[in-house]
Amino acid sequence: METVSSNSAFSLILLWVSVSVGYCKVVMHDEVQSPLYPEPYPADLHKQWDLEVPPGYKIKLTFNYLDIEPSANCYYDSLTVLHNNKVLGKFCGQKATDVHHPGSKPIMSPTNRLRLVFVTDDSNPGPLKHLGFSAHYQAVDVDECSSPVSLENSDPPCSQICLNTLGSFMCACHHGYHLQSDGLTCALDCGGGVFKESEGTMSSPGYPDPSPLRMDCAYNISVQPGFEVTLNFSDSFHIEQIYNKGHSCLFHWLLMTVPGEKPRKFCGEKSPGVVRTGSHTVQLEYHTDGAGQSRGWSLHYTTQRVECKLEKSISNGRVTPDFPQYFYRDYIHVRCDEGYKLMMGEQEIRSFKSMCLHNGRWHLPLPQCKIIDCGAPKPLLNGDVKFLSGSNNEYLSLVQYQCNEPFYTFRDAYQVKFTCAADRKWRADDHSAVIPPCIPVCGKPSVELSVRGRVFGGQKAPAGSFPWQAFFVSGGRGGAIVIGDRWLLTAAHNLENVKFAKERLKVYVGNVFVSELIKFPSLPIESLHVHPGYKNINEANFDNDLALIKLSSSITFNNNVMPVCLPLQDTKLSDSGWVSGFGMTEDFTTANELRYISLPIVEQDQCHKSIETVRATRDNVSPLTGNMFCAGLPEGGQDTCSGDSGSGFVMRSEHTYWLAGIVSWGVDCGKPGRYGVYTRVSNYINWIEQTMKDN
Ligand SMILES: *[C@@H]1O[C@H](CO)[C@@H](O)[C@H](O)[C@H]1NC(C)=O
Ligand SMILES: *[C@@H]1O[C@H](CO)[C@@H](O)[C@H](O)[C@H]1NC(C)=O
Repeated sequence: METVSSNSAFSLILLWVSVSVGYCKVVMHDEVQSPLYPEPYPADLHKQWDLEVPPGYKIKLTFNYLDIEPSANCYYDSLTVLHNNKVLGKFCGQKATDVHHPGSKPIMSPTNRLRLVFVTDDSNPGPLKHLGFSAHYQAVDVDECSSPVSLENSDPPCSQICLNTLGSFMCACHHGYHLQSDGLTCALDCGGGVFKESEGTMSSPGYPDPSPLRMDCAYNISVQPGFEVTLNFSDSFHIEQIYNKGHSCLFHWLLMTVPGEKPRKFCGEKSPGVVRTGSHTVQLEYHTDGAGQSRGWSLHYTTQRVECKLEKSISNGRVTPDFPQYFYRDYIHVRCDEGYKLMMGEQEIRSFKSMCLHNGRWHLPLPQCKIIDCGAPKPLLNGDVKFLSGSNNEYLSLVQYQCNEPFYTFRDAYQVKFTCAADRKWRADDHSAVIPPCIPVCGKPSVELSVRGRVFGGQKAPAGSFPWQAFFVSGGRGGAIVIGDRWLLTAAHNLENVKFAKERLKVYVGNVFVSELIKFPSLPIESLHVHPGYKNINEANFDNDLALIKLSSSITFNNNVMPVCLPLQDTKLSDSGWVSGFGMTEDFTTANELRYISLPIVEQDQCHKSIETVRATRDNVSPLTGNMFCAGLPEGGQDTCSGDSGSGFVMRSEHTYWLAGIVSWGVDCGKPGRYGVYTRVSNYINWIEQTMKDN
């Protein structure tokens, strides 16, 4: 037996190869019986049945009858029930009381499959034949919820609630959780995530029901930079508040985190209400632990554009538009008040515009408005300028121009005030930026002649009494008359000696002594302008005996040099006037001092007769023309002589001396019945003015 047994073990292995396998189709219930049942079973048998019921069920196998040759451990013949190669039972015997008899107790498979293997040996020891077995099996619903689905995985199939169904099961989740796609696990239903809309609503899981325990929910609000999130918690707010050692919100809390700031924890029964976060991203984390109760919270959030503050107001300028607050993407301009300029640091800028950035800053810092200045006021020739008010030539500073009185004056004002204007120019009241020139004052000598009487031989002229008198050297001596700061008049015939060559002329001004005058250089002569009508052939016609001398630089006037005024064209002569000259003495070649005399005007007829008398007896005597006048005393004695040629005969009206004549010619100087003849200046005003204008 022993060898056989070992052989049988061997043959068993061989038999596996040619085993007859009963594959049963998937059914809800069926019967299974030994071969030939109810006849005795054959020897040398190896038969296998694979029972199967639909998934989600297991198999309940019940023996109606079992009679298999008993042996120790069912060694010879046996029916083995296996599940996944695991032996659930090995049966033999005849009565339910036998050790290896299954009785009527059903065998449950852990799954929907079960295998039966019936093995018999080749010998039947006794006369008794054994009938085998008869069993039925049925599908029995598995309660997956209470038993493990498989032997390998002993966890409950559902992470939370398991609902058994016929042949299957369903998982469900507690309040505040939702079933994941695997159908088994529950995940917390926070309603969280990332909120990107400009406004929105969020609440604790299950709100207004109490919040689930043991959860951590995160809510992120993340809107565009440049916007700030404001949370508005509803009044109904409750998060368990437990204090311990000065800490609250110990177990349940809502944590608000804003970048760059200390996180804030909320709990308790009082709604935080409106919370301005000042940030475009806000993280909220809601935490509950395994105990206690929080009824939850809800909030509505809104977003506002970030505000840019204007820290300081602009002095002397203003910001436009003038809003109480400025927000992201707002633009401002800065304009300075009149008289102020925009400065960025040390740099002047034409205009200023700045935008409110998303970070609440301005893209450019505010500029300053600095007061403008007009620069130093321009100097005034022959005048000066003084400050009346203001400083540093700043806006609205006031200056005053004044000419050097009494020698210069403005044409029609005594002084002119200029203000530093908003366009950074000095401007007068009439907005003109042009400073009027200082005009020389004419005909107002600082020394008034006290004596007007007729004095034989003339008088010494005090310094400054005939300031227009010039000393003139052109071979011989003569005179000239200052009529402007660059112009003098003289007699045309004076220039004959030097053939009208300016280089050979010398002109001096500013002193009554020749010796003093000639210590200084001659005035620089630019050009000579002889009257075109002067044609004095053989000294026989002094008509138009005048010439203009232009200087190449200006004379600065003072007490000792001043122009005489020119009359208007065709002004009538007064009765008398004054004539001055350096030759007015018997010894005119050496006279050193300026002298003058006062002479009456002689009637033109009377003078004409006097001259015609001479002409009747002498050749080469000029006729008297309407461009000449005569002056002198009928008794003679006082006259101008050749050394005075080119000097002025002046008259006075309203305290102003004006030029009536130029010493021109005469016959028999100083004799009775003879008179001095003068070029009648008032006939030439148009020519003089035109010539001065043209040159
Ligand atoms: C929420 O924001 C935090 C901090 O920025 C980040 O760590 C977390 O991943 C975010 N959560 C979600 C769901 O976006
Ligand atoms: C906050 O919400 C309440 C109620 O919803 C509302 O009356 C209130 O105006 C809101 N406050 C702000 C600042 O939005």
